[in-house]
Amino acid sequence: MQPVSGFSKKSKEEKIQWLADNYLANNSGAITILEKYWNRDESLQKLHDGFIENTISNYYLPFSIAPNFLINQKLYVLPMVIEESSVVAAASNAAKFWLDKGGFIAKVISTIKNGQIHINFFGSVTDIQDFFSEIKPQLQKSITSIEKNMKKRGGGLLDISLINTTEKLDGYYQLHCTFNTGDAMGANFINSCLEKIANTFETLAKEFSAFADKNTFPEVILSILSNYVPECLVQAHVQCSVEQLTTRELKGEIFAEKFVRAVDIAIAEPRRAVTHNKGIMNGIDAVLLATGNDYRAVESGIHAYASKNGNYTSLTHAKIENGIFSFWIEIPLALGTVGGLTSLHPLVKFAFSILQNPNAKELMQIVAVAGLAQNFAAIRSLITTGIQKGHMKMHLMNILNQIKASSTEKEKVIHYFKENTVSYNAVENFIENLRS
Ligand code: MEV
Repeated sequence: MQPVSGFSKKSKEEKIQWLADNYLANNSGAITILEKYWNRDESLQKLHDGFIENTISNYYLPFSIAPNFLINQKLYVLPMVIEESSVVAAASNAAKFWLDKGGFIAKVISTIKNGQIHINFFGSVTDIQDFFSEIKPQLQKSITSIEKNMKKRGGGLLDISLINTTEKLDGYYQLHCTFNTGDAMGANFINSCLEKIANTFETLAKEFSAFADKNTFPEVILSILSNYVPECLVQAHVQCSVEQLTTRELKGEIFAEKFVRAVDIAIAEPRRAVTHNKGIMNGIDAVLLATGNDYRAVESGIHAYASKNGNYTSLTHAKIENGIFSFWIEIPLALGTVGGLTSLHPLVKFAFSILQNPNAKELMQIVAVAGLAQNFAAIRSLITTGIQKGHMKMHLMNILNQIKASSTEKEKVIHYFKENTVSYNAVENFIENLRS
């Protein structure tokens, strides 16, 4: 195999041909699969091809909906894009469970985003502090044209501060910049502002006499937004009397105590916390994907928040007080309802229509609720039946499709496995017996 040069300049057809010649020689069906996933509408396909580089096909994930989410007294249907079976079923169950108990209450605590210009400076602390105080207004002014549209929408740069980080790393300073980006996630806006401020900072530094006298100038290493946004925070909670948690199998009091204990275990033990929070992310990521938001940014920010006190811990909390069960989540979420994919991807627009076109704050509340609901459903299963029962029921359909079961076979299998444990082998054997 030889490395390829000028690959990005090849046409889509040439790229596919190159791939077929070099990596798919023994797989004649592979290209047919690629083509099957092309959209018949050429302009729609072109739109999708243009989102990233070297596109050869589309990759489908199921687009699903979870109804009955009562959030701040408004009834929502959540759009969810996810490959894992049971997630949407679990979300829908949790939504239904809380529907007649006042639903979910969510509130945005703050919406400040941030970015840093990371600087090397090995001179006098007083010199860089004096320099910063002197030029701060010029730094702010340098982004006037970049900020113009954002300002019209009520956003913009909030503040710049110089942070001495030399105790963490020798000669390391930061310009910490805070922003309000309104309904946009704001990554492009923040990064453009930071790069301009960094540029202005370095230019003005060359003219600052204290630096010139000692021939020691600050040097910008890099400028980028931070995906850690603990000042862009949302909370969501549910609450009901312990009696309301009673089911046919379990008294409310016992359920509530086991539930709180399960959450406390995730608070105390990082190994459990990671899986506990993964379940939360099942709900969060599914809504983020459907709404075209950057789930990687949110993931890294949320996990950093989960370890803000030095230990990785649960994102949710639960308590019983005076016979009332409360369960809540607090997470940082920098989301956008305008810009990025939101105005480009037709299914993202569709997802926003389902949500009745929320603004960024509303979307933060919806997404936090999706995480809380998912966690409620997971813990409820874990402390009662275990998750495999529901999981394998959903997984059964995947197995049946994989085995290419007919609809009559499916019916028989589903009936049989209502009372028996699902596994790939068990289903395969059952089908083989049916067919023999
Ligand atoms: C599976 O995707 C998610 C769970 O493992 C979450 C949890 O353990 O809380 C069920």
